[in-house]
Amino acid sequence: MYKIAVLPGDGIGVEIVPEAIKALNAVAERFGHEFAYTAALIGGAAYDEVGNPLPAETLELCRNSDAVLLGAIGGPKWDNLPVHLRPEVGALLPLRKELALYANIRPSVLFPGLSQASTLKEEVIEGVDILVIRELTGGIYFGEKSREKTADGGQKATDILSYSTYEIERIVRFAYEAARQRRKNLCSVDKANVLESSRLWRETVMELAKEYPDVETSHMYVDNCSMQLIRNPRQFDVIVTENMFGDILTDEASMLTGSIGMLPSASIGGQVGLYEPSHGSAPDIAGQKKANPLATILSAAMMLRHSFQLETEAQIIEQAVRSVLAEGYRTPDLMEDGKKMLDTIEMGDMVANKIRNGE
Ligand code: IPM
Ligand code: MG
Repeated sequence: MYKIAVLPGDGIGVEIVPEAIKALNAVAERFGHEFAYTAALIGGAAYDEVGNPLPAETLELCRNSDAVLLGAIGGPKWDNLPVHLRPEVGALLPLRKELALYANIRPSVLFPGLSQASTLKEEVIEGVDILVIRELTGGIYFGEKSREKTADGGQKATDILSYSTYEIERIVRFAYEAARQRRKNLCSVDKANVLESSRLWRETVMELAKEYPDVETSHMYVDNCSMQLIRNPRQFDVIVTENMFGDILTDEASMLTGSIGMLPSASIGGQVGLYEPSHGSAPDIAGQKKANPLATILSAAMMLRHSFQLETEAQIIEQAVRSVLAEGYRTPDLMEDGKKMLDTIEMGDMVANKIRNGE
């Protein structure tokens, strides 16, 4: 039996998580596994209920589970709270830190039939298959923050960006191991022409490269990388980068898959993995059954792969998503002429049926 903590969160989180559970249940039925789900509050929903975006019981539940499935958190309703109570800084970042999830994996894969849904040209994104590995518990998001008053009556705000050799080494090793399983090409992204932390990053990668002679290593500045991702994305296999650069580049890379609604993510490194779509809580479409559940469903597939070592089952989910798309079914974010529109629940049902029937 696998124990899964379920944290739907805010906005569309509460709509998409049940669809991922349907997919997991279909897998359980077909393969005879048992998944036991326990739900808990997180984010704005938790703040409203108990005054804390990351209640101690939620953290405790996560620690005692085999994996965590998260929807999305945040929204305008909570944007003006003191910073430590906001869903992003008060819940998601500490959850990642507490669970020691230093490696965030975001695969940008163009699913067949979706090349028209992207704003980018078909010939640019055809065949894209990139794995972005983002360092998730260090860097400027976790550095010391401060404010002070200045003599001119204004203020000065500071965010510290620092990385240690240890932090860089473990994520870069992780990326090398991933590259070994793929096309053996690793691009390390930094800003070593300006930042000291990036210079240490690059030196550390150059040292580790000696241990992985079978993997081709390259280095790229982050500004260039953001350009190359839309100029010629097929040049990339595995990208490894620090926390903030990875945050920004993965949103950009999501457009290579057609929609950010297609981009799953896995955060691992500690005892318990966390699986969540890369997108946010989308308050503008919340409650309207318009959300695309596929990123969350694909995150559940990553859970089977990375936390439970159920590779066949993970591939069954991914195959089901491919066949639903191949048959022309689309949520509104991916809709185009000649396709059949489904709402969030219909899309989840469709994928679960395919899993059951092995399509
Ligand atoms: C993401 C999100 C989060 C991040 C926010 C919500 C704190 O943008 O998972 O990419 O920056 O890591
Ligand atoms: Mg982000």
